[in-house]
Amino acid sequence: MDIKLLSAAVKIGADRSRLERIFLNGYGEVMQKKEDLPAQLPGITSLRDYGGCYLVHGRYLLHATVTCRLAYASMVDVNPLPEFAAAIERVRAQLPQTEFETVGGDFREPALFQGLRETDASLLYEVILHQENYVEVIRNVCAKTRKFICFAQPCLAEEFFTLPASAVLLQFHSEALKDVLRTNSFWPKEPPVERFNSAHWMWGHTVSHILDVFKGLGWMLRHGVLIGGVCGPCWDYPLLVFERVV
Ligand SMILES: C[S@@+](CC[C@H](N)C(=O)[O-])C[C@H]1O[C@@H](n2cnc3c(N)ncnc32)[C@H](O)[C@@H]1O
Repeated sequence: MDIKLLSAAVKIGADRSRLERIFLNGYGEVMQKKEDLPAQLPGITSLRDYGGCYLVHGRYLLHATVTCRLAYASMVDVNPLPEFAAAIERVRAQLPQTEFETVGGDFREPALFQGLRETDASLLYEVILHQENYVEVIRNVCAKTRKFICFAQPCLAEEFFTLPASAVLLQFHSEALKDVLRTNSFWPKEPPVERFNSAHWMWGHTVSHILDVFKGLGWMLRHGVLIGGVCGPCWDYPLLVFERVV
């Protein structure tokens, strides 16, 4: 490698736009922010949560549905849990006019989207880092969303990469390397795998990579902050809202 070229790339590549960083007291406050984001979107009447069941049982979808008195609330999850069905029943009495939909399916499959109606807004919370075809998933989510997409997930710190807009496939990294990246994070120790497995962490995207993927698909950043300290020193945790560019 030509050292002059490498140092030019390092120097010029270091000049990347950074979002404001805020610090919260633990993951409970992050969940509160994730909940507030869709509930504060202007003028929406419908919302779909892609992968909103595990552990949170539709919390983010249902909070916005109640707050904004949405007409249509949709969940797509490969594993729609009974706790989510029970959570819908708890809010149904307050919202007799709201249409609730649960789709059990894998959003890596483009055919799944053919049967989906459009919504004003969509949630992509802690799901994109698990998909081997994540650009196609985001493209299909964009196609079914009229106005806004809320996005949140751990993203690898920009400092790991010389070039901006980088991403790394870390699912097949050595255990020793993964353990370093897990330092003080909530990435759990997982069994090694030999094939793509969307149940485990697959990608380390940078925030600049995610911004560029949405830009390439015709969506602009409407709101964005980085939450510091929630996933250890190696990871940023962005909370982003993208808006369709007309
Ligand atoms: C890490 S959890 C995130 C839960 C929630 N969105 C949050 O932010 O806490 C991932 C969720 O996405 C679902 N999921 C992951 N990959 C999926 C896929 N390819 N198709 C459909 N659902 C998927 C899982 O079943 C799970 O409910």
